[in-house]
Amino acid sequence: MRKTIIAGNWKMNLSSAAAIELATAIRNGIPGSISPQTEVLLCAPALFLESLAASVAGNSKISIASQNAAAWKEGAYTGEISAFQLASSGIKTTLLGHSERRSLFGETDEVLKTKVDLALEAGIRPVFCCGEPKEVREAGTHEDLVGSQIQNALFHLNAENFSKLVIAYEPVWAIGTGLTASAQQAQDMHAFIRNLIADKYGKELADGISILYGGSMKASNASELLSMPDVDGGLIGGASLVADEFLKIVECA
Ligand code: PGA
Repeated sequence: MRKTIIAGNWKMNLSSAAAIELATAIRNGIPGSISPQTEVLLCAPALFLESLAASVAGNSKISIASQNAAAWKEGAYTGEISAFQLASSGIKTTLLGHSERRSLFGETDEVLKTKVDLALEAGIRPVFCCGEPKEVREAGTHEDLVGSQIQNALFHLNAENFSKLVIAYEPVWAIGTGLTASAQQAQDMHAFIRNLIADKYGKELADGISILYGGSMKASNASELLSMPDVDGGLIGGASLVADEFLKIVECA
C-alpha cells in the first residue's frame, strides 16, 4: 500500500528560532492516531536542516527534508549543497524541480534528470515536482506538458530506482494564488500520471508511487482533495507555516 505524505514547503521563510518553534509544535501536535501509512515531511531552508532534524527526533512519523540539491556531486560550486552533503547530515528526502526552481532559477528537465540521478546515488529520495502554467491549462495541453516533464527527467531510470520516487503535481496557477485545482482536476491529472508510469514500468510499480497534490492546499480543502483515489498527500506552502493549520491538514490524511 502506498504512503500518504503530508509535506510542508517552508520556502525561504522563518528565522532559525521560528523554524525550531514551528517544527516542535508540529512534531508535538501530530495525532497519536495517525495511520502507520502516513508520513509528515517538513521541507525547510538548508541552513536549518540539521537543527530541525534534532528538534523532531524521537517521533518516527515526521522528518526534515531539503527543498533542493545541486546538479553536481562536489567541487567548485560556491553556494550550492549536494545530495551527498545532505545525506551526510542525515537528510533522506529532497524536493526537486519545484516550479519556483524551474521559473526563477532556470531548472530544465535536463538539469533535473541529473539532480534526480545524483540524489538517488546519494541515497536521497526525490520528491519530483511537475505542473503546468496557466496558459498551458487554458490551451488544454496540460497532460502533454506534465507527461513530458516526467518522461524527460525520470523515464531513463530503471524500475528499482523509479520506485523510490515521490511525485508532486503542482499546477503553477494554483501555487500561492489561493486558487486550488478542483478535486476532480487533481484526480484526473494524478490518474494520468499514474497511467503514464504504469505504461512504462507496469501497474504494480505505478500503484506503489505516492503522488502528492500541491497548490493552495489548506485545512478547508484538504479533505476533499485527499479523498480522491489517486491523491496520496499534499505539498503545502503557505498553510504549512502555521502549526494549527498544517496539523488540521495532517488530520485529514
Ligand atoms: P502553496 O505552495 O501551498 O502556498 O500554494 C505550494 C508549493 O509551492 O509547494
